[in-house]
Amino acid sequence: MRVAIVGATGAVGHELLKVLEHSSLPIDELLLFASPRSAGSTLTFRDQALTVQVTPEGPIDADVVLASAGGSVSKALAPAWVAGGALVIDNSSAFRYDAGVPLVVPEVNGDAALAHQGIIANPNCTTAIAVVAVAPIHRAYGVRRMIVSTYQATSGAGAKGMDELLNETHKVLHGKEAGAEVFAHPIPFNVIPHIDAFQDNGYTKEEMKVVWETRKILGDDTLQISCTAVRIPTQRTHSEAITLDLERPATPAAVRELLAGSAGVEVRDAPEDKLYPMPLTASGKYDVEVGRIRESLVFDGGIDLFVAGDQLLKGAALNAVQIAEYLHAKGALKAKVRV
Ligand code: A2P
Repeated sequence: MRVAIVGATGAVGHELLKVLEHSSLPIDELLLFASPRSAGSTLTFRDQALTVQVTPEGPIDADVVLASAGGSVSKALAPAWVAGGALVIDNSSAFRYDAGVPLVVPEVNGDAALAHQGIIANPNCTTAIAVVAVAPIHRAYGVRRMIVSTYQATSGAGAKGMDELLNETHKVLHGKEAGAEVFAHPIPFNVIPHIDAFQDNGYTKEEMKVVWETRKILGDDTLQISCTAVRIPTQRTHSEAITLDLERPATPAAVRELLAGSAGVEVRDAPEDKLYPMPLTASGKYDVEVGRIRESLVFDGGIDLFVAGDQLLKGAALNAVQIAEYLHAKGALKAKVRV
């Protein structure tokens, strides 16, 4: 199988390379693309140095294109990749809300991927991480209302965001004033309740993505969701405090047991031993950590919990590769015959 990464030099691109190293996909050839800025540089895959090429305007001769170079690149070029016969798994928000484009987290709605027409969208990172924990609870108890507060790492803004955290923190530690280019305000020693553009309803686009995408993935337009998305000065891994109002009452013990048997989840919930989800422990992990599972003090029979999931992995690269693996395992993704 020939796999291509568009945006290979970015934060998600780097993780795609690492995840693909251990993937069950039968990869014979990996093609790496980025902007002209990185053309000719090399990246290592399975001990081989691969040269990064300029992303072509036209088709890419690959079976799968994993796109992570931003919405405008995907919007402009994905149709040509599809026309050339590739399956496009797109990390951007360009196609997520199109009716004909499945939005997929394999543990939750993998079968939706089978209905693709050439493009499958990878969800927003915050949503992907949340639904891994919330979907099993939704299936068992019926989520009626969901209130989410996020603590999002700088990796969500790509390599530039992660660099800005380190460089500006370095400045502060050396007695200088921190600046801001990627973020709306200096990120060191700060929290910023502003991710993506403000909408007419006072919520940010990032917050509305959680609303729109959670509904689409869970296949439930009646779900009431409210989100406050906040950027914090961590490198990677998004954390989220989630409150669930349920149709059928749940107990923390039952939810703990349910999640312990759910794919993609690691229950980390022993507060007496100081065990709970945190970026420091969740970073680099494939599973989403879930803990602080407790009875809601507001909603009868409702549940409060805390999740931490690696934004670059389950929130991006890992989920994209898992979609391809899911289709391959179902016999729905095959290598083209090349002569
Ligand atoms: P480059 O490194 O050459 O700029 P991140 O999200 O970490 O900022 O990464 C964005 C990725 O998308 C990088 O690999 C970047 O390549 C790539 N990219 C940005 N703009 C374009 C473009 N116009 N065409 C192709 N790739 C692009």
